[in-house]
Amino acid sequence: MTRTSLQCRECKKEYETAFKYVCDDCFGPLDVKYDFPTLTKDTFSNRQHTYWRYFELLPIENKSNIVNIGAGMTPLTKAENLGKKLGLNNLYIKNDSVNPTFSFKDRPAGVAISKAKELGLTAVGCASTGNLASATAAHAAAAGLPCHVFAPSNIEMAKITQALSYGANYIAVDGTYDDANRIAAQIGDSKGIGIVNINMRSHYVEGSKTFSYEVAEQLDWTVPDQLIVPVGSGAMLNAICKGFEELQTVSLLDDVSNMHMIAAQPHGCAPIVDAFKKNTKEVIPVENPDTVAKSLAIGDPGDGRYVLKRLEQYNGFAEECNNQEILDAILLLAQTEGIFTEPAGGVSISILQKMVEQGKIDKNDKVVCYVTGNGLKATESIMQVLTKPTVYKPNINEISAVVQ
Ligand SMILES: Cc1ncc(COP(=O)(O)O)c(C=O)c1O
Ligand SMILES: [Zn+2]
Repeated sequence: MTRTSLQCRECKKEYETAFKYVCDDCFGPLDVKYDFPTLTKDTFSNRQHTYWRYFELLPIENKSNIVNIGAGMTPLTKAENLGKKLGLNNLYIKNDSVNPTFSFKDRPAGVAISKAKELGLTAVGCASTGNLASATAAHAAAAGLPCHVFAPSNIEMAKITQALSYGANYIAVDGTYDDANRIAAQIGDSKGIGIVNINMRSHYVEGSKTFSYEVAEQLDWTVPDQLIVPVGSGAMLNAICKGFEELQTVSLLDDVSNMHMIAAQPHGCAPIVDAFKKNTKEVIPVENPDTVAKSLAIGDPGDGRYVLKRLEQYNGFAEECNNQEILDAILLLAQTEGIFTEPAGGVSISILQKMVEQGKIDKNDKVVCYVTGNGLKATESIMQVLTKPTVYKPNINEISAVVQ
């Protein structure tokens, strides 16, 4: 007997767990369905400080298949200084910039690669805007599996360097993320490679649910009022909702229906925001994304339609911000809270500001803003809004004059 099965999100047909991600009948995406054991808050309290502490809520049958590089259980920082600036009394930053590969992608990649091992796959890979490349490559290295990464050639050098260092076969595609994604899908299927965010997607998204489990536990098993989530493909936002719903199912949380989901996208690649503002269910792909938030440059979001559903279900909003606003927000977070994020995190902070300005967040709301990647991965972009330091001769008088 296995603890999990797969179920079509559309027609609800069930399947035994396998290397499979779309429904045979309606081509809908398959989600993992669980037979949950009885859980209490104490179940987790004395466990390891990684997201594997929530093993019972993750789709791995046998613990020996877990590929654990220490990801998760990242800080949920009460942002007193930024909160004061914005007029918020209960603002929290979920800081995933400090994961082992410096982004939240260690969550979905770690679960997908553990599952790939469990299913007996002999190679893995991903289509990536940069962060997933490193997360997949690092976990593949730890699992001893070859890793094939498909990514646009114009992403940040730090992300390329990092993935190459873990030993990945890095395929830089002269095109958009959607081009890389299409090629990865075809090669993955024809060669039997577990592409974590494509043919392993059912299991991949399960990893991002741990963003909800940790936040709930860190908030002493309460539900936030407002959640601000940066959106590329939309997989993470959808998974965060699923995670909170599962905690309600296992009676670890009370009613989660009053939380508000806010989708944050960069101007230049905001197809979900466009659909939300036009009040349509159809997400029209952006052909050539153009934004400083390269990790969110996904023109044709795989889970776009489901994000719109989630926003409706959770009385949410979708909003966008431009490059200048993103870079300013990075500095605002760094200079108030000491947290250095990449542009995707800047998008979250900028949209947080906008939501406050638009009166969509009350000053006493419990707000969780997801900061999903590290600023050190995008220093070329962030330098655009900083002044290059002047170089001085090691002369005490000269230097003393500029230290006031
Ligand atoms: C740092 C960061 N934040 C957010 C996202 C968006 O996640 P999703 O594609 O699941 O919406 C990405 C995607 O690559 C990312 O790298
Ligand atoms: Zn179906």
